[in-house]
Amino acid sequence: MSKQPIGIFDSGVGGTSIWKEIHLLLPHEHTIYLADSKNAPYGYRSKQEITDLSIKNTELLIQKGCKIIVVACNTATTNAIKTLRATFPIPFIGIEPAIKPAALHTQTKAVGILATKGTLSSELFHQTTDLYGSGIRVIEQVGDGLVELIESGDISSDTLKSLLKSYLQPMIETNIDYLVLGCTHYPYLTPLLLELLPKHIKIIDSGLAVAKQTKTILEQHGMLNEALSLSKNEFYTNANPNIMTNLLGNGFKAEYLEF
Ligand code: SIN
Repeated sequence: MSKQPIGIFDSGVGGTSIWKEIHLLLPHEHTIYLADSKNAPYGYRSKQEITDLSIKNTELLIQKGCKIIVVACNTATTNAIKTLRATFPIPFIGIEPAIKPAALHTQTKAVGILATKGTLSSELFHQTTDLYGSGIRVIEQVGDGLVELIESGDISSDTLKSLLKSYLQPMIETNIDYLVLGCTHYPYLTPLLLELLPKHIKIIDSGLAVAKQTKTILEQHGMLNEALSLSKNEFYTNANPNIMTNLLGNGFKAEYLEF
């Protein structure tokens, strides 16, 4: 058993959608969340830049005593997790777009994936699609501009709605019945997506699967915190903390940290 915190990082505020699932499943685990919003979005950066930023975030979380790190960012996972695992001696959990469950359950044999350019062009994404996507059509859509709007605190404006509509239309026309959210920022768009998508299209994200995987890996390493005391949850951002505080809700508060 270990009372050390779980470290979580993302290019910004989006990974708090993953933190929420982890906190729900493992309410007694202490957590430290880092939002590298100053450098968001990672999706347009080179593999080397994404790797360097991921190493910087990891070093800070390890300095703060974290026992495991959740890379709560699809773009950082697909581009940097191999290097992180080879560089640091603690376990890492990454985010993979939920292509597998969508491919298993699709009736129309067409699934849509909305993600960043960095994720869709990565080797790991193509390996996942090749592995699970045979016999189905995977319609890829880059969500240009969505991360920037969410980072600015916008999850419901008309600008956001019309941008999202333009990304969904080609997928709807291709008769998808599953939409995979391949970026941890996008679960914050679920209310808008439900409004814009025909009712038969189901939305899948990776949050719960990542939380379950975190629990499994902690158990395997004998690192679960079995104390039943209340957890301490710290949130740091190198941009405006009010935006993250608003997204977190429930009285959780983000703080500014220079990194
Ligand atoms: C980004 O920083 O471009 C998005 C983060 C993600 O892919 O989850």
